Amino acid sequence: MSVEKAMEDRYSSRKYLDKPIEKEKLDLILKSGQLCPSTFGLEPVRFVVVRPASLLYEACFSQPSLQTADIAIVYASSIKRLEPHGPSAMEHFRRTGLDIQAQIDDFEPFYRLLESKGRLESWARSQAYIPATAMCIQASELGIQSCILEGIDEDLVKKACKLDSDELVNLVVVFGYPADKPYPRLRRSIEELARTL
Ligand SMILES: Cc1cc2nc3c(=O)[nH]c(=O)nc-3n(C[C@H](O)[C@H](O)[C@H](O)COP(=O)(O)O)c2cc1C
Repeated sequence: MSVEKAMEDRYSSRKYLDKPIEKEKLDLILKSGQLCPSTFGLEPVRFVVVRPASLLYEACFSQPSLQTADIAIVYASSIKRLEPHGPSAMEHFRRTGLDIQAQIDDFEPFYRLLESKGRLESWARSQAYIPATAMCIQASELGIQSCILEGIDEDLVKKACKLDSDELVNLVVVFGYPADKPYPRLRRSIEELARTL
């Protein structure tokens, strides 16, 4: 299937068949998240697969999609992984094979700027949307649908998944074989949406 078709087919499904996602397909979905870009390649987001998704029903405002979805993936962002001198960043800078100090010099001013503006947390949180979107598209290519949920109680999700206290969760995505049909697609026209300078 082309990427275009997977994008066309993707929709936010809120009702799923009682049919588990095969391991090979789940592995492909996770791989699409692994391959995503992240700031300086620091990979500040980890994926926690929750099966069945209903384990997070109460933690997600009792949204009906969690009652039937096979899995929910929790995107946990870590500021610690973005710290220029922290163990994760240092390990990453070492693995690139490039000059470690040069990489820190390149990255740290940007980190300090965001820190001075109080934006470290929102920056870490925003990294989760990139793999989440890619995983929805990869799932669609496999005939699996999904729904991004921002309607979550972060503290309850963290407790249910036993996340570290410093981890941040902005979104959960449910996945499964759909039992519903997409709504008519409402979108702004490309002319309205995009402009070439
Ligand atoms: C950041 C974000 C948060 C969302 N949160 C929820 C949610 O909590 N519950 C829900 O049912 N759908 C949620 N959605 C799905 C949107 O309602 C949906 O993407 C939109 O209506 C467009 O429909 P489509 O995804 O089928 O094209 C969310 C989508 C995004 C991108």
